[in-house]
Amino acid sequence: MIRLALPKGRNLEPAVAALRRAGLDLDGFGAADRRLWVAVPGGFEVLLLKDWDLPLYVEYGVADLGVVGSDVLDEAGGDLLVPVRLTDGGCRMSLIGRRPELPGPGEQVRLATKYPRTARRLVARRTWGAEIVALSGSIELAPLLDLADLALDIVQTGRTLADNGLLELETVAQVAPSLVINRASFQRHRSTLNDLIGRLEAAGVAR
Ligand code: PRP
Repeated sequence: MIRLALPKGRNLEPAVAALRRAGLDLDGFGAADRRLWVAVPGGFEVLLLKDWDLPLYVEYGVADLGVVGSDVLDEAGGDLLVPVRLTDGGCRMSLIGRRPELPGPGEQVRLATKYPRTARRLVARRTWGAEIVALSGSIELAPLLDLADLALDIVQTGRTLADNGLLELETVAQVAPSLVINRASFQRHRSTLNDLIGRLEAAGVAR
């Protein structure tokens, strides 16, 4: 059995769609039950995990492979193989604010985010400084309510920003659901996993 971890959040739908296009039979998964661990045909078992836990499950080898956003991967770190990114389900990471301009040189601001390590790396390359306010959700409320001057967060459709009267000041990274593989699992199941990667690429759903 090869154990595949799928993320519960925004990346579940593109991940399932891409894997189906690559020929994986996921019909037994996502049915009207709440099982978090399901065997599917073709020698795979599927685990359903929170995005932020997924890299750890794969790195520790509890899951052999998984799909997770590159935003989470960059923040969490970890020693994983990342052979391809999915072509669907992409979004961007952006600096967000209420006023149309970024801080000036030497200015010190507060920046709210659920990506504190990524934010620290970003600020280190800027002429302005920031105190990082680490939050776990509804990040857009922070600049709205003056908990912070800026936010670093995901923008997909732009709807959340528009509905809250916020501005996207700068796109700092393109984000995509990414295939991650445990290093030892890749050695153990090399031909099956190479075949899966090849079929994802051939179907045009990963590169
Ligand atoms: C993200 C992000 C925004 C929203 C942007 O939240 O934090 O709130 O999606 O998407 P949009 O541009 O399509 O409106 P997510 O759904 O990941 O939930 P979370 O805040 O609970 O992490």
